[in-house]
Amino acid sequence: MNRSCHKKEYGISSHAQLLITANLSLHLFYIYTMRIDVITALPELLESPLSHSIMKRAQSKNLLTVQLHPLRKWAVNVYGQVDDYQYGGGAGMVMLCEPLANAIEELGKDRKYDEIIYLTPDGETLNQKTANQLSLKENLLFICGHYKGIDERIREHYVTKEISIGDYVLSGGELAAAVLIDTVGRLIPGVLNDETSALTDSFQDNLLAPPVYSRPAVFRGWKVPEILLSGDPKKIEDWRCEQAMKRTNERRPDLMKDE
Ligand code: 6GU
Repeated sequence: MNRSCHKKEYGISSHAQLLITANLSLHLFYIYTMRIDVITALPELLESPLSHSIMKRAQSKNLLTVQLHPLRKWAVNVYGQVDDYQYGGGAGMVMLCEPLANAIEELGKDRKYDEIIYLTPDGETLNQKTANQLSLKENLLFICGHYKGIDERIREHYVTKEISIGDYVLSGGELAAAVLIDTVGRLIPGVLNDETSALTDSFQDNLLAPPVYSRPAVFRGWKVPEILLSGDPKKIEDWRCEQAMKRTNERRPDLMKDE
């Protein structure tokens, strides 16, 4: 396939383009903030990933609000029960309808959710395109499952989107929710210092990122590629494009297929 990575000639992927256009126009009219509510039986699992670095900055700048809602609040009895054995028998507990339905309905009174997302290994696999699309929403509700999952009726009647973060099994949806919040949150305009930096990430143009180097120019005899020290921006850009293409061809040829 004759595909150059030169962005001026060939353009970045259509979903990245959509992100730039949508974010710029949103920016022109108002500063918006995204709100993510998370229903979880284990809020502790999500606290640390949200309290540092970029996710911390996003929240302290009020660009992102993440509210954790312990499912126990809606437990069916004084023991805090939120799960039970499954009908038909078999190992593993199922998260009950009642606490989940009550939680979703109570939270739904305060705001209209753009999507109610259930994190589950049998959902659609998360990719950059989905992250870009979700970063344009205002109100999202995430539901983290545990054990054997949640009662199917909740999925049928409330959930609007189901997302998996890859083909492997986690003990619960919390770590997946942390991944989703991070990947979506960093795309909100103003969260990263230089917005273009999210757009030059691997995957935004369906290419993996080129190799990067920092000081010193020679470390244990290992040299930084000469061209990066040349000071010639055009040559450097061409080299990076070439490297990105090479790397993608070698490691992820599937990404080179047209969208
Ligand atoms: Cl979203 N949940 C669980 N439990 N396991 C997963 C997953 C989600 N995505 C990949 N594996």
